[in-house]
Amino acid sequence: MKKIKIAVLPGDGIGPEIVAQAVKAVDAAAARFGYEPQYTHAVVGAAAIDAVGDPYPEATHKTCMEADAVLFGAIGDPRFDNNPNARVRPEQGLLAMRKKLGLFANLRPVTTFATLLHRSPLRADLVEGADFLCVRELTGGLYFGRPQGRSEDGTTAYDTCVYTRAEIERICRLGFEYAAKRRGKLTVVDKANVLATSRLWRETAQSLAAEYPSVETEFMFVDNAAMKIIQQPRHFDVIVTENMFGDILTDEASVITGSLGLLPSASIGTGTSLFEPIHGSYPQAAGKNIANPVATILSAAMMFEYAFSDMEAGAAIRRAVDASIRENFTTEDIAAEGVTPRSTTEVGDFIAQRIAAGE
Ligand code: IPM
Ligand code: MG
Repeated sequence: MKKIKIAVLPGDGIGPEIVAQAVKAVDAAAARFGYEPQYTHAVVGAAAIDAVGDPYPEATHKTCMEADAVLFGAIGDPRFDNNPNARVRPEQGLLAMRKKLGLFANLRPVTTFATLLHRSPLRADLVEGADFLCVRELTGGLYFGRPQGRSEDGTTAYDTCVYTRAEIERICRLGFEYAAKRRGKLTVVDKANVLATSRLWRETAQSLAAEYPSVETEFMFVDNAAMKIIQQPRHFDVIVTENMFGDILTDEASVITGSLGLLPSASIGTGTSLFEPIHGSYPQAAGKNIANPVATILSAAMMFEYAFSDMEAGAAIRRAVDASIRENFTTEDIAAEGVTPRSTTEVGDFIAQRIAAGE
């Protein structure tokens, strides 16, 4: 039995419900593949502001640092959204967590599920077979650049975009490495026709390209990339881009598959890796047992693959998820017409049982 320490950070909204289903999946995979998981729960986001007045408390950080992986739900609470004067915001917890754990890379795979293609806002023939990986820089750029704030009289506001060559190089290297392992195509997305930081990105990526001869590198402006993702999603294999562009493009990319609610992500870097669904805290559904747990369960699959290098356990979780979708055992957001939707916990139980049964 291999002991694995997992920090469980449910966060806000539907976070606790969906993370509980992912824990069931991890338990089932652990039993089957010889792991002994040890879970430590910790608060983050609005839940942490309510509990201790800090959206990423030191105690939570310590729990994450001592763990082998972090399983995270979602952050965000409408109580803060329309209150620009809130002193602390839940999202600050997420940013602090990324920065303090050194999570400089956010990996968001975009894949389609054959039976859900009709739900895509795009024509099924356009999106069918789309399969790409967005590598988003996560600890630099506009999100963290200083100065940031307001002029004394409050009528001017500013954010600063800062990137060092070292920051660009480490994220682009990851992009090249994943491209080399996949279909050998890397799209570097920037706005080098306008921004100085983008020109440094392009220059840095160009100088790295020679080290990865098996990878075909292309450069694309972000506005063009936004268009291409909906016009020709199969064009892409690996996209690497800076923090803010990545935030926007990954929301766009996640809906074209018709399955927002199904897409997982991994954030990796210098400390403990973190696994979370791409979607948010969906506060309207909190406590109703209706939210789709699949993205979080697939994040647990990524956890086995990335944190424990166990492709087999990851694949077992994915197969169980595929079975639930194929057999129409799903929550209401993706339920087929005429089929009774299942609750969050029912879907979680179904998937855990299939993992245990060796699906
Ligand atoms: C995401 C989210 C966050 C981000 C928010 C909640 C701060 O949109 O993870 O994509 O902008 O990074
Ligand atoms: Mg986002």
